[in-house]
Amino acid sequence: MATTPDAASQGQGAISALLQEDRRYPPSSEFTAQANAGDAGIYERAKADPEAFWAEQAQNLDWMEPYKTVLEWDVPWAKWFVGGKLNASVNCVDRHTKTWRKNKAAIIWEGEPGDSRVMTFGDLYREVNQFAAALQKLGVKNGDRVAIYMGMIPELVVAMLACARLGAPHTVVFGGFSPESLRDRIQDCEAKILITADGGWRRGGKVPLKDNADKAVVECPTIQHVVVVNRTDDARHVPMHAPRDVWWHRLMDDAKHAIVEPEALDSEHPLYILYTSGTTGKPKGMLHTTAGYLCGTMTTSKYVFDLKDDDVYFCTADIGWVTGHSYIVYGPLANGATCVMYEGSPDYPDKDRFWDIVEKYRCTILYTAPTAIRSFMRWGNEFPEKHDLSSLRLLGSVGEPINPEAWVWYREHIGADRTPVVDTWWQTETGHILITPLPGLTTAKPGSATIPFPGIEADVVDEQGNSVPVGGGYLVLKKPWPGMARTIWGDPDRYVNQYWSRFEGWYFTGDGAKRDEDGYLWLLGRVDDVLNVAGHRIGTMEVESALVSHPSVAEAAVVGITHEIKGQAIAAFCTLRAGNRPGDEAADELKRHVAAKIGPIARPDKIFFTAELPKTRSAKIMRRLLRDIGEGRVIGDTTTLADPTVLAEIRSQYEEKEG
Ligand code: PRX
Repeated sequence: MATTPDAASQGQGAISALLQEDRRYPPSSEFTAQANAGDAGIYERAKADPEAFWAEQAQNLDWMEPYKTVLEWDVPWAKWFVGGKLNASVNCVDRHTKTWRKNKAAIIWEGEPGDSRVMTFGDLYREVNQFAAALQKLGVKNGDRVAIYMGMIPELVVAMLACARLGAPHTVVFGGFSPESLRDRIQDCEAKILITADGGWRRGGKVPLKDNADKAVVECPTIQHVVVVNRTDDARHVPMHAPRDVWWHRLMDDAKHAIVEPEALDSEHPLYILYTSGTTGKPKGMLHTTAGYLCGTMTTSKYVFDLKDDDVYFCTADIGWVTGHSYIVYGPLANGATCVMYEGSPDYPDKDRFWDIVEKYRCTILYTAPTAIRSFMRWGNEFPEKHDLSSLRLLGSVGEPINPEAWVWYREHIGADRTPVVDTWWQTETGHILITPLPGLTTAKPGSATIPFPGIEADVVDEQGNSVPVGGGYLVLKKPWPGMARTIWGDPDRYVNQYWSRFEGWYFTGDGAKRDEDGYLWLLGRVDDVLNVAGHRIGTMEVESALVSHPSVAEAAVVGITHEIKGQAIAAFCTLRAGNRPGDEAADELKRHVAAKIGPIARPDKIFFTAELPKTRSAKIMRRLLRDIGEGRVIGDTTTLADPTVLAEIRSQYEEKEG
């Protein structure tokens, strides 16, 4: 059984195409990470006995009841730390309030308009308890799902941890998603409560979160209450529908000084559901559970970022995505680390906002995405140069392959050529970092995510599943790891088919990778119909469904094309229904339509109108041809695509390659 139609049909061709397109190889130079306190024996120890390694790490969690078995593995169903009981909010908050860390900053928050707030672990403890009490009052119980649709404000973290305290799995929906995307996610997990804000600040404007939430919940009968944070002081303009809608601050006032006993939850109790794009039009609700996920995020945060108590760690991700879940909230807080959290855009009010934040708070670790790094390069060195960035001692990259030029620029211009750079590969499904250098222990090569984290067995295999010692192939994971998603919410069959059927007994990542002579891994990008636009995953099918829902569109095909800053951009090929005229106006209308349907991140960069879509004899869309057209490799004047003879001519050259 093939994981994805495209990967299967293209077979090894998909990998060759990626290798051909790969401009990241070879590396321009090598850097040895600056030594810092690593654990020299960690790789060998973990290799000798991975389960013992993870068990050793699990000792760093606070348990309410000890577990009995480290791992039960019945492919593909994993249970980690079986029989144990614990609570994630206790591990991220309570236990630190019993030490000197009580008055240590947990979250240093910077609002986009320039307001700021520091929350100690003690503050976080009070607010998490208050909000947990509020949720209880609204009827939330162990097992109920709670949806969260907010910007990057501290209340988001409080809400997540309050849910974890009650054993109510949260599903955080990125604040840039449309009402329809929010509605689909709420409906899929049947959430009882929605937590949102009146609005959020973005590039000086207000994102109408409550308006979007109102539109979404009209079709969500499971929602009993909508809790609203007053963030943009728009209180008078936001209609509140009593008794459904309640203000966050009123609930908090009513729950002053409340203490809520944390639930003693099973190791495998669902902690959260996070939706991510796949190869169909319907996003997948990846389910993460408690103990393994916490163990994985805590351990990787500690070793990959070399987290120490005096670090000021700045992860620029949005908590609407998995990076924010694992490396702003659960991993760092479980370690008692201080995290900087920023609400807004990196170019507001100036193009040096991040550097301003690094300088203001003396950040020591910065974790960001290649897209952002490439934008900084484009904006010019004068922005970072205006700032004293000498506090930085470690830089991280995540979300997409980083080209060596960006890697080198990052290290030279942000890290003053002295900081290690950790390029971390992982996915929503993996829960935590799986391929990465460890500072002080691993020699880096710019553009390579280097080698698997201790205890992780990754391999590059060919179509038949044979290991490829040197060269390109599919990236698979051969052993279970603690933070792995346990299933797709409500759809275990899809979980099995998607990840565990392509190569029996192994997890198929959907990524192509190349292994070099030193055993280093170079990620090449997706081999399925998933795009990675500016580090965000979008399914081609989702965009195609959005396009064909427009009355003028008869058929649509979407491909990813190389984009200098975003890594990939979306190109859409549309055939119009009779009576509709192609042109700039139609293209703008369709771009607007997709943005409204899914969210602005899915807005196509280019729309091509074609008389027909090029298909193989077996009716598969010739995506390779479309990519070549989209990137201008095939024809100069694309307006001629609307002429049926043009495509027919170029298609014949491709038929052999793709058929
Ligand atoms: O293609 C890989 C790419 O991002 C995908 C996972 O996307 P998502 O689940 O949204 O999680 C992003 C944050 C972890 C992967 O299948 N990817 C992620 N990190 C890297 C990467 N590609 C290359 N290098 C990376 N460091």
